[in-house]
Amino acid sequence: MFNSLVRKRAIKDDSTALRLKYSPYYHHFERQDGCRVWLEGREMIQLSSNDYLGLNQHPKVIEAGQKALKKWGASSTGSRISNGGRAYHQRLEDKLADFLGTQDCHIHAAGYLSCMSSVQGLANRNDIVFADRNIHSSLWSGIGMSRARVEKFSHNNPSSLLRAVELESPKKAKILVFEGVYSMEGHIAPLPEFLEIAKNHDLFTVMDDAHGVGVIGETGRGTTEYFDCVGKVDLICGSLSKALATTGGYVAGDKELLEYMRTHSKQTIFSAAISPAQAAWAEAARELIKAEPEHLTRLINNTKHYKNGLEKLGINTWGSQTAAVPLIVGDRLKAYRIWKELITQGVFTTISLPPSVPPNKELLRTAISAAHTIEDIDLGLDRLATAFNKFR
Ligand SMILES: Cc1ncc(COP(=O)(O)O)c(C=O)c1O
Repeated sequence: MFNSLVRKRAIKDDSTALRLKYSPYYHHFERQDGCRVWLEGREMIQLSSNDYLGLNQHPKVIEAGQKALKKWGASSTGSRISNGGRAYHQRLEDKLADFLGTQDCHIHAAGYLSCMSSVQGLANRNDIVFADRNIHSSLWSGIGMSRARVEKFSHNNPSSLLRAVELESPKKAKILVFEGVYSMEGHIAPLPEFLEIAKNHDLFTVMDDAHGVGVIGETGRGTTEYFDCVGKVDLICGSLSKALATTGGYVAGDKELLEYMRTHSKQTIFSAAISPAQAAWAEAARELIKAEPEHLTRLINNTKHYKNGLEKLGINTWGSQTAAVPLIVGDRLKAYRIWKELITQGVFTTISLPPSVPPNKELLRTAISAAHTIEDIDLGLDRLATAFNKFR
């Protein structure tokens, strides 16, 4: 190996040095039991999982996967467009479409692919995409691949969007891209205001609701249900890896739109279909959301309890409105130190730094689950108090 420019750049990067010192990423738990995980033999409270409804280890979810495995084997063995399509894909898509209030749905092997597809599969290089500054990397990737022009607007700010839209010709095709619930911030998009602007200015709407579905809305149908706007967003994309207890993703919308996406999105055409067990887990989770609303109720109560505790501790949660709860530190080194102290004390959180979050918003991302007990949350709060006080 010689000392190439690329090698030097990677080694000299000062955040690489901090990462090597604190080792905050790519951990491998040795065991999991609900919201407890074991790392290097030590039991910890998992305070950053996206298993919002706690369905990951639900017996019915596990049983559904076992049955699917026996019936279909381990893999779909191909892409949907060729040999990989199975009856279970269609069944899950029908159920998700019904749940989200759309005509049709398409599932992918990852939410990242779904969110990319929902933009890249519909937009083209002559279009303008209006993007909330804080959208997920998967949506930026879709925008980049579409080669459409991007106009960013201030996070969750309808006036900023309107100002950007009014500068453009009414003749141009325009797409609005945003999240229903923001994964880092826990903010809910002002959907009714966005839809009003979309209606008046002919914007096509793409909403990533990975962190909204299962989590908000009276019956867990996500951001459209929360605002009583079911059926009003052109495309909803998201992930099966949060409340839906598996891995994979979906795009939901009208039949014609999905047909167009299926033939224009590379992520949809050239990637293998999700496996039988993955689909079965998502289908079981979706059934449980309907049949056992107590999981959502517990999530809401747990989140309230946690946020009340954080408020008493004076920890800034960036105005989170949902179960995704950032703890703002606002300083890179302090964030590493607090994160490490929490690990020492047996609490697992996720550190998030610019450019994943805006400058001065260095944070520890925490998330509440229906699987947390009140004792878990109280213990977590107690240890957060110690760690934050130590480095305040
Ligand atoms: C908002 C958002 N969109 C899309 C994705 C991608 O989903 P997946 O992890 O299933 O690829 C994520 C996952 O982190 C996410 O948080």
